[in-house]
Amino acid sequence: MKTLTITRPDDWHLHLRDGNVLQAVLPWTANVYGRAIIMPNLKPPITTVAAADTYKQRILSHLPADSNFQPLMTCYLTDSLQPSEIKLGKETGSFTAAKLYPAGATTNSEHGVTDIKNIYPVLEMMQQVDLPLLIHGEVVDPAVDIFDREAVFIERVLTPILADFPELRVVSEHITTSAAVDFISAQSDRVGATITTHHLMINRNAIFQGGIRPHMYCLPIAKREEHRLALRKAATSGNSHFFLGTDSAPHLTHLKENDCGCAGVFNSPNTMECLAQVFEEEDALDQLEAFASRNGPAFYRLPVNADTITLEKQAPDNIPAEVAVQDSATGIHVFTPPQALTWRMC
Ligand code: DOR
Ligand code: ZN
Repeated sequence: MKTLTITRPDDWHLHLRDGNVLQAVLPWTANVYGRAIIMPNLKPPITTVAAADTYKQRILSHLPADSNFQPLMTCYLTDSLQPSEIKLGKETGSFTAAKLYPAGATTNSEHGVTDIKNIYPVLEMMQQVDLPLLIHGEVVDPAVDIFDREAVFIERVLTPILADFPELRVVSEHITTSAAVDFISAQSDRVGATITTHHLMINRNAIFQGGIRPHMYCLPIAKREEHRLALRKAATSGNSHFFLGTDSAPHLTHLKENDCGCAGVFNSPNTMECLAQVFEEEDALDQLEAFASRNGPAFYRLPVNADTITLEKQAPDNIPAEVAVQDSATGIHVFTPPQALTWRMC
């Protein structure tokens, strides 16, 4: 049987939540990935070293004793965060990065930044101590069409940040447009971008296929087919600017199938299977290791994982349609790719 063995991957953008949801979703990441960048958009958000440390302990307490999975914690930037907190988080190793959510851009972003100038002293400190800035790159201006928010952000916010902080390392998270691919490709290696599983597999039609499909709704929203193709080209090129960030974002099914459904796709249970399929379709299986296991550590200046995973060319039979959550009437719907999967994890 055809198999593929690669260095163990990492997930450079992951939502694990807390409590029973954390407990339900964590094994799907910890069994496959060596490390993950943990998003700080809890309620309340992770804005201090102390909160990041205790959240990390809650994650670790749900791991099996023999797991080597490492959560890498991040700080949620607010208008009032003090540069001293960034300095402390860097010194203690508690923060691997800090996350910019424009206020109102997405789930639990209401404490985010209302004007980028408000955090210039914090960005100055991040540049000084070399703490990467992770960006949810969408403008919140209601006059801007939802499908244009990423491209406009590049123009109005990202370009000035890169000019004003020439040494700051920046990751443009979950890019969805050819404009972002072109912009990131043209930057030096201090700038990178994550790409999600689902944005490689669906375009915006999937959100409206025969009716409204809340489980295909995430932010940034999927774009036209030409953008999906540009993302696939970038991810499978081996270009070190681009690496895997699943943006796996679990929400209980009743909160997705709702009058005002939450944004987020839960793809941790089948991301590597999906990626093997995408990379095979692009005739680029030899670049999967770069995207999932090598480019991310290179950006974060961390060693690559020491062990490997193996996939085999066979339809998976171990991926649930929904993951149950203790004490919850509904579980979490797993991302359903548009075609049946043909690779499985060994
Ligand atoms: O779809 C999304 N879900 N996009 C985000 O930026 C946040 C995430 C979440 O936390 O649910
Ligand atoms: Zn996210």
